[in-house]
Amino acid sequence: MAAKPAGTRQRCAKPAPVGPCGMVIFGATGDLTRRLLFPAIYNLAADGMLPKEFAIVGVGRRDNSHEGLQDILRQGLAEHATRNVDQKLAERILSNVTFMPANFSDPRSYARLSAHMEEVAVKAETRDNWLFYLATPPSAFGTVVEQLGKAGLVKQANGTWRHVVIEKPFGNDFESAKALDALLHKSLTEDQIFRIDHYLGKETVQNIMALRFANGLFEPLWSREHIDHVQITVAETVGVEERGRFYDPTGALRDMVPNHLFQLLTLTAMEPPTAFDAHAVRSEKTKVLEAVRELTPQEVVQNVVRGQYTEGAVDGHPVVAYRKAEHVAADSNTETYVAMKLTIDNWRWAGVPFYLRTGKALATRTSEIAINFKRAPFTIFRGTPVEHLPRNFMILRIQPNEGIDLRINAKVPGPSVRIGSVGMDFAYKDYFDTPASTGYETLIYDCMIGDATLFQRADTIEAGWRVVQPILDHWQGRTRKRELQMYPAGGWGPEAADALLERDGRHWVVSNGADAPKP
Ligand code: BG6
Repeated sequence: MAAKPAGTRQRCAKPAPVGPCGMVIFGATGDLTRRLLFPAIYNLAADGMLPKEFAIVGVGRRDNSHEGLQDILRQGLAEHATRNVDQKLAERILSNVTFMPANFSDPRSYARLSAHMEEVAVKAETRDNWLFYLATPPSAFGTVVEQLGKAGLVKQANGTWRHVVIEKPFGNDFESAKALDALLHKSLTEDQIFRIDHYLGKETVQNIMALRFANGLFEPLWSREHIDHVQITVAETVGVEERGRFYDPTGALRDMVPNHLFQLLTLTAMEPPTAFDAHAVRSEKTKVLEAVRELTPQEVVQNVVRGQYTEGAVDGHPVVAYRKAEHVAADSNTETYVAMKLTIDNWRWAGVPFYLRTGKALATRTSEIAINFKRAPFTIFRGTPVEHLPRNFMILRIQPNEGIDLRINAKVPGPSVRIGSVGMDFAYKDYFDTPASTGYETLIYDCMIGDATLFQRADTIEAGWRVVQPILDHWQGRTRKRELQMYPAGGWGPEAADALLERDGRHWVVSNGADAPKP
C-alpha cells in the first residue's frame, strides 16, 4: 500500500485496500472479538479492503487451540454477520487464524508471541506489519502495552508499522487516564496509539459533521442566537445482562458519558475544523470539552440525576431488578441511568443548556440529538385562535432508523388560522443502499492505515474526565445513597430526570413519538 500522510482521511471515493498485515487480538476468545471484530474483519475482506496476506493471532488467558479459536470465530460470524457470508472467503480468513495462550504479565509469554508472529509473518506474508488490538478488561491495558514494549514488539523498523488499539474505558477517572497515558507513552509514540470509541465508527455520528459543514442551511443557525437548548439521548432497552462484573464497579456515567455521549456532544458543538484530519478535528472537539463549565458540588446535586432500574418489563418481557442481576451486589448503588445539564461557556453556546441522558432497561432503544430552536415571535398571531407557537426542532437519529427529522410549523388547512407541527423526515435507508455493518469496519481499517481522525486523543479524553470528575467526586461522598433514584425497567428513567427539564420549562423529546414533544 502506498504511504499516506498520517492522520488524513481518505479523500478518494473508494479507499485503497490495506497492505499486507496481521492482527494480534488480546482477549481473542471474548465477546467483542466474536460479536463485532471478526464480523467486521469479514466485511472488510468481502469489500476487498483487506489483503490476501492477512493473519490473525488470537491471544487469550485461558488454554485453547488454533482450531478452538477458529470455531469460536466461525460461530460468532454465523450469529452476528451483518450480511450473507461467503463461506469460502470466511474459511480463507479462518485458515490464517492461530491461537496463543498467554499470561499477560509474564515476559515469557511475549517472547513466545514474538516467535509465533515471526512464523506467521513468513507463512502469511504479512510483511511484519501488525495491529495489536486490546480487547481485554481495561485493567490489562497498561500491563500488555508495557510488556509489548519490553519485548520489542512495537518497534517499527524498516518501513514496517506496529499500531495498538486500546478499547474503552480509558482510565476510570481523570488521574487514572493520565497515568495510563503516561504508561503507554513509555512504549509507544502517539501515532501508534488508537484509543477507540465505537460511536465514531457509526456513519450517523460521522454524518453530524457532514450535516453541519456540508450544508449552507444549518450552520448559520447553529448558535445561541437561534438554538434554545440541545438534548442528547442514548437510551438502551438492554439491562446489564451478563456484564455485571464490569458494569457494577463502572456504572452508567463512566461507561457512557465521557466517551459515547461526549462524542455526540463535541461533534454537535464544535467549531468547523480547518480540515477533515486528525489534528484539526480532534483539536476542535477538545476545545468544546475544555469550555464545559465545571459543576460545583451544589450544581451536581441540582443538575445531575442518577438512577437505577428496578423490576419491570421491556417490550413485554420481564426484567429483573438491577440488584438481582448476575455479578451485581444485592445492595449495589451503581447507577444504570444518568441525566445531566451542562453548559458550554464559549461565544457560540453561552446560555444554551445541553441536556444529556443515558440509561439501561428503558422503554425504547434510541440514540439521538435534538436541536431545539428558539420560538418565533408571536405578534402576527395575536387575535387568531393560535395560542402558542411550538418550537422548531431537528432530531438527528443516530440509531436505529438512522436519519434526520425536522419539525416545523404549518398552517392547518381551514378557514381559521391554526398552526400544526409537521415533520420533514430523511431516512438513510431511503437514499443509500449500503450493506449493514458492525460499525467497527472503518475503525479497524483506519488503524491499519494509520489514520487517527476517528480515534480519541489523550487530551480529549482527559478533558472529558475533567467534566465528569466533580460528579464522580461528589458521588463518592456520603450523600451518594440518597441521590440514587429508582425507576422501573421499561420506562423512561427516574422522574427527577423529567423534573430537571421541567424546572427550566422544557421537556425531553424523542423522535419516535413515544414521548411526543410538547410546546
Ligand atoms: C458500550 C457500553 O461501550 O456501548 C455498553 O459499554 C453499551 O454498556 C454500548 O451497551 C452501547 O453501544 P451501541 O452501539 O449499542 O449504542
